[in-house]
Amino acid sequence: MPNLRTQPGSMRVLAFLAAMALPLVLWHAEAATAAGAFVIGLVAVGGVLAGARRARATEARMASLAAGHERDAAARARGAEEAARMVSATLDAVPDAILEVDGERIVVRANAAARSLLSASAGMTLLSIVRDPDILAGVEDVLAGRETADIPFTLPGPVERHLVVHVLRLDLGAAARSRAMLLYRDVTALRSADRLRADFVANVSHELRTPLASLSGFVETLRGPARDDEPARLRFLEIMDGEARRMTRLVADLLSLSRIEASEHAAPIEPVEIAPVVARVVDMLAPVARARRISVAVDIEAGLPPVAGDGDQLQQVMQNLVDNAIKYGRAEGQVRVSARLLAAEGSVPARVALAVSDTGDGIAREHLHRLTERFYRIDPGRSRRMGGTGLGLAIVKHIVNRHRGALSIESTPGEGSTFTVRIPAIDPVAAPRRPSEDQRGQPSSTA
Ligand SMILES: Nc1ncnc2c1ncn2[C@@H]1O[C@H](COP(=O)(O)OP(=O)(O)OP(=O)(O)O)[C@@H](O)[C@H]1O
Ligand SMILES: [Mg+2]
Repeated sequence: MPNLRTQPGSMRVLAFLAAMALPLVLWHAEAATAAGAFVIGLVAVGGVLAGARRARATEARMASLAAGHERDAAARARGAEEAARMVSATLDAVPDAILEVDGERIVVRANAAARSLLSASAGMTLLSIVRDPDILAGVEDVLAGRETADIPFTLPGPVERHLVVHVLRLDLGAAARSRAMLLYRDVTALRSADRLRADFVANVSHELRTPLASLSGFVETLRGPARDDEPARLRFLEIMDGEARRMTRLVADLLSLSRIEASEHAAPIEPVEIAPVVARVVDMLAPVARARRISVAVDIEAGLPPVAGDGDQLQQVMQNLVDNAIKYGRAEGQVRVSARLLAAEGSVPARVALAVSDTGDGIAREHLHRLTERFYRIDPGRSRRMGGTGLGLAIVKHIVNRHRGALSIESTPGEGSTFTVRIPAIDPVAAPRRPSEDQRGQPSSTA
């Protein structure tokens, strides 16, 4: 029996007619109206059956609609989950620590950097993660309606880190309360680059100001009190000459440093034989060595392959190292220049090791890692008196970097120092000939 409650009104009327017609057919079977009544009955029963069919179809349609709704809801839920995963993955890829805090000051999201930097995770209270009163005040301001707040913050530790915490307001529409997002930007590298730049400018001005002041002082003296003092004039002119030369060297070294830095990305590829480079440097500095009665010994391994490099720059490296060894070595001592081949090891190619040793006072451990900084000197007065600019080892470091090599310094105070430069060698098998004009410009292979 069809359920009448689910049928439309017309079907209920037909069902009622059918129920009325059936007794009529039975009671007046012989009467002339029996046939008519029978027909009415049939129509009525047919109507009932058709109504039932329509009701079943309606029920099926409604069931299918309900199933469709369920499917849509499941798809929407899947979409929302996927979007949440995408947001998490994207935030995890950001190197800055990010925290999202709701109106109750509970963390609703902490990206990977926040988890490792702040040990934060979703569900924690903000107070259990952040103690800095300025950051907490920034979050309160933002939750109260301010758009953003930037708070500088220092993270203590073995290596101090400087951060700026940007607090931003996240508006989630009228239905939800605003949230605050905390973004920790590490500005340590920026700060140290700023400091280096400022130090560099200060150092250059200082290096130039001192000789310039001394030059003006001597000019005044020569015009005034020493005007007729011949021996004093000659002495002063000699000092002035030395100061002027040092300033010229300083400017030349600064220019050379900036040129090397500008080309540091492109490793030089010309094959350079080491023996002639060393011989030229030793010849050039022989008078300086003689003046300090220092003997210079050269020891170059036989059959040394050429290195991939720039001949002039490698000569500059050797000149700066041998010059230091003579300047800072013990008078009447010995300087040794050696070159030998280091075989390839795993992914490290074969290299030529160039070492310059002296028998000087040596260098205390705390200075070793700073020697290649521009203008860093252990004894600035001594270096300046000898005409030094304090840029020699900085130039060595940048040239070695450009050659994809390495510089190491070993020193025993009281005994002497050894400066070693390792430069990739050219594989004699892969590159048996010097590159001809047509080969130039193609990278040489190194062992
Ligand atoms: N072989 C060495 N023994 C001891 N100290 C050294 C040696 N080589 C360098 N130093 C120290 O390192 C400092 C930096 O050397 P660098 O060559 O950069 O500058 P400089 O020699 O003072 O000046 P410049 O090279 O312009 O003449 C020197 O002032 C010196 O104190
Ligand atoms: Mg030097």
